[in-house]
Amino acid sequence: MSCKKNIVITGFMGTGKTVVGKEVALKLGLEFLDTDEIIEKKQGCTISEIFNKKGEEYFRELEQNVLVELAKMSNSVIATGGGTLLKNENLELISTNGIIFCLDANIDVLLKRLGKNMTRPLIAQKTNDDIIRLYEKRNENYNRIPNHIYNSDISPLETADTIIKLYNKLTAVSEKTE
Ligand code: S3P
Repeated sequence: MSCKKNIVITGFMGTGKTVVGKEVALKLGLEFLDTDEIIEKKQGCTISEIFNKKGEEYFRELEQNVLVELAKMSNSVIATGGGTLLKNENLELISTNGIIFCLDANIDVLLKRLGKNMTRPLIAQKTNDDIIRLYEKRNENYNRIPNHIYNSDISPLETADTIIKLYNKLTAVSEKTE
């Protein structure tokens, strides 16, 4: 197998990073890696428990450590947490061997998808207005990522196909210029 850049999927909570990432990996026969899942396995507890016991800053350190490891890989599909690539350092790190796709959807669609899910510590006790404020604040950072895919009206399968098409196009272009 040739050594190809990772496909990195990021975006706000509820944009479907994990579901779409799994589809992309399945379709391309690549390994799927999820930063939150890796952290939970390594720590032996859930993300919520880490936030509650050790705080967000500690979680962000764990997240960055995982990213350092994943940045060394190739031929993988990586789904990040919603906040992982807000740090410039992390964005640069994962870009060295990855093409980043930022998923997005209409805020009403996201609120519906997130529903009353209590497993996400940042929004567990928050009102819709709080979540909207966080979404708007984060958009400044997400907007620095060139490849955006809006999936309010398309299925995870269609989103996966869009990513694959774009990835093939982008890697074909970069192979020609290398
Ligand atoms: C976070 C998103 C979560 C998880 C953690 C923090 C964030 O991942 O990493 O709760 O800062 O947006 P999902 O986006 O997969 O829910």
